Amino acid sequence: MPINQYVRKYVIMNLGGAIHLNKKFCLVIFIILVLYLYLSSFGSRDENDFTKQTQNKVNLKNLLHMAVIAAENGGNEVKNNINSNKIESKGKTKEGADDKVTTADYKSHCIMQGTIKKLYHDIKLISEEFKTNCEGIDLPSEFPSIPREIDALNDSWVKDSDITVWIDPLDATQEYTEKMYEFVTTMVCVAVNGKPVIGIVHKPFLKETYWGWVGTSKSPNLQVKERSDDELIFIVSRSHTGKVKEMINTKLSEIKNKIVEAGGAGYKVLEVIKGNADVYFHTTAIKKWDICAGNALLFSVGGNMTTLKDELIDYGDTENAVNTNGLVATLKKYLNLKKLLI
Ligand SMILES: *[C@@H]1O[C@H](CO)[C@@H](O)[C@H](O)[C@H]1NC(C)=O
Ligand SMILES: *[C@@H]1O[C@H](CO)[C@@H](O)[C@H](O)[C@H]1NC(C)=O
Repeated sequence: MPINQYVRKYVIMNLGGAIHLNKKFCLVIFIILVLYLYLSSFGSRDENDFTKQTQNKVNLKNLLHMAVIAAENGGNEVKNNINSNKIESKGKTKEGADDKVTTADYKSHCIMQGTIKKLYHDIKLISEEFKTNCEGIDLPSEFPSIPREIDALNDSWVKDSDITVWIDPLDATQEYTEKMYEFVTTMVCVAVNGKPVIGIVHKPFLKETYWGWVGTSKSPNLQVKERSDDELIFIVSRSHTGKVKEMINTKLSEIKNKIVEAGGAGYKVLEVIKGNADVYFHTTAIKKWDICAGNALLFSVGGNMTTLKDELIDYGDTENAVNTNGLVATLKKYLNLKKLLI
């Protein structure tokens, strides 16, 4: 579907944004609407609020769709640049490893941000590569049409000032530079009043997209499988290992456990949901764009994600993009485990 059709389809619902499309047409519609609302207000007070409600409001269903497209557009950049990457270091992590960034991180950022901002220019958006200059970056001229399972969802309007979008244009950059492509994801997260509500994790090299809308729906491929073994599998970071192994071995010594190392926060959350691991465990600082989408996926399947102090993470607090208190992410079954860890 051409982009203009999208703009018409989505922005027409937002009376403020539609006027630049065709002023006369919108004016006529507006006058009819006002007349209609005025007349019908004698019968119903609720409908009288319609105009007020759609002003500065975002339909989460449409934002979900655009967020899926953004993640997939970013994923295409990630795939297309495997041979033309310039690898740089942004500095050192706390553990002393290089914090790498590649051409693909920047390009994916610009495409993902551009895709969201195309229709939602007033939304607050935070990205790992927010400092990138995106001038001259072209969006794809065609966007895919809305998948049936998203189209079937109900509209849900939210004030745009309550929304924060978090973008990770390339999660597991270290593994990407080592050609361990299975760990690589692109992620978009929509937080409403600080709570993760919509999460998208896209695996570009496997052509898989997982999404969850908390309390509403999820992608058909996001299937929970709980493990039944008596041994607990912890999935931990390859590159930011920190004190994690030591902590598991001292605090959980009486529980039979196994530690699996993997790259990427998005990847690790999916492993927990798919039943390939029980607990995603992290003891050091982690950025909110790394974890917001996975947090929404976990919430949408009844799991949980907290810091090691048992706090939920506030994604409305954009001044602090770093969660410094570690991470425990599990399905419901393992929530009691936190008591042992904290
Ligand atoms: C949409 O809303 C209606 C009315 O509240 C409800 O019955 C229906 O199940 C909802 N559909 C979806 C897909 O959530
Ligand atoms: C997740 O953990 C927090 C902190 O313990 C708790 O307040 C919340 O109810 C939990 N959510 C679910 C769905 O279990």
